[in-house]
Amino acid sequence: RAQIVAMTSENLDMDAIKRAGDILKAGGLVAFPTETVYGLGGNALDPQASMKIYAAKGRPSDNPLIVHIAEADQLAEITTEIPQGAKILAEKYWPGPLTMILPKADIVPKETTGGLDSVAVRFPSDRIAQELIKAAGGFVAAPSANTSGRPSPTMAEHVEEDLGDAIDMIIDGGQVGIGLESTIVDFTEDVPVVLRPGYISLEMLKETLGDVRMDRGLLITDNSVHPKAPGMKYRHYAPKADLSIVEGTEAQVIDCINRLSAEAEKKGLKVGVIATNETKDCYAHADVFSIGSREEEETIAHHLYEVLRSFDDDRVDLIYSEAFYTPRMGQAIMNRLLKAAGHKIINAQEEKK
Ligand code: TXA
Ligand code: MG
Repeated sequence: RAQIVAMTSENLDMDAIKRAGDILKAGGLVAFPTETVYGLGGNALDPQASMKIYAAKGRPSDNPLIVHIAEADQLAEITTEIPQGAKILAEKYWPGPLTMILPKADIVPKETTGGLDSVAVRFPSDRIAQELIKAAGGFVAAPSANTSGRPSPTMAEHVEEDLGDAIDMIIDGGQVGIGLESTIVDFTEDVPVVLRPGYISLEMLKETLGDVRMDRGLLITDNSVHPKAPGMKYRHYAPKADLSIVEGTEAQVIDCINRLSAEAEKKGLKVGVIATNETKDCYAHADVFSIGSREEEETIAHHLYEVLRSFDDDRVDLIYSEAFYTPRMGQAIMNRLLKAAGHKIINAQEEKK
């Protein structure tokens, strides 16, 4: 079973980090905190380590991993060409919750990139992550540290639950800051393309880069248009319960969810509701979980995966969620929520008729 070591970014345990680095150098797996979600790390330049990551997560090996670095200069060692836009973004957002896709250099094995000629690179801002990457030799492949198909882990307990038996060590750095995975920008096409929205929004990228667009596969729910990031095509982040998002005015949504959950409870089903501080006392029939205040979108993002996991633990059969089209992170929040719901949206207004 995985050895668990606890530390904080302010109080690093450098002995434990050295041991973790040695495990990675020897081809083992270590889970660690980043500012977005916990990552499952292996040596990115070791094809065997990448194969182990896929096996531990139960992830298809055509779904590429992100290579984490701890110095911006190291980007040039694993890529063949860095366009001006990528340099500008690195300057502005690294270290931070941004992943960039660039043509890969030969030293990056195809096992790490899921067979692709490009590589995803991220320089995280979390200090534990940075020290671990350095201790491991500079290049750590790390997908989110969840079992494939479960919500990404925002605390070490989630990692232990999913992967405790499959990996060598878990570094417990407490709760992560952001709670949603990094924004991914693809630089292998003429115009930079956002393959996954995150804390850094499309609007912020437009301000910096000018020309940048959202991957069509993310905007269209039609199944014939596939997202470019292989991972975005899977029904990721799937809770065990059947999740639907209910849209409409606040009053309509409350009314609709109350009606649907009363009906479901009559049939003997256990219902969960994802609400906000403002609405949580308005639901009469269900197990209600407030995700935070509607005014604080960062809190909503921060709690999303935790809420989904807690409903799994409570074994609810159905989940109704309010929609969260908040100003800056709404795109990222709704992207994850819509995927978790398999794009099931209930229009509260129409439902009433
Ligand atoms: O915040 C994050 O990015 C976290 C932490 C641990 O850093 N990592 C993470 O990794 O979310 P993962 O493996 O769960 O998601 C990586 C996504 C997948 O959807 C994958 O398909 C896509 O990035 N991806 C990776 N390399 C790619 C490439 N060369 N081309 C297109 N998509 C790529
Ligand atoms: Mg993931």
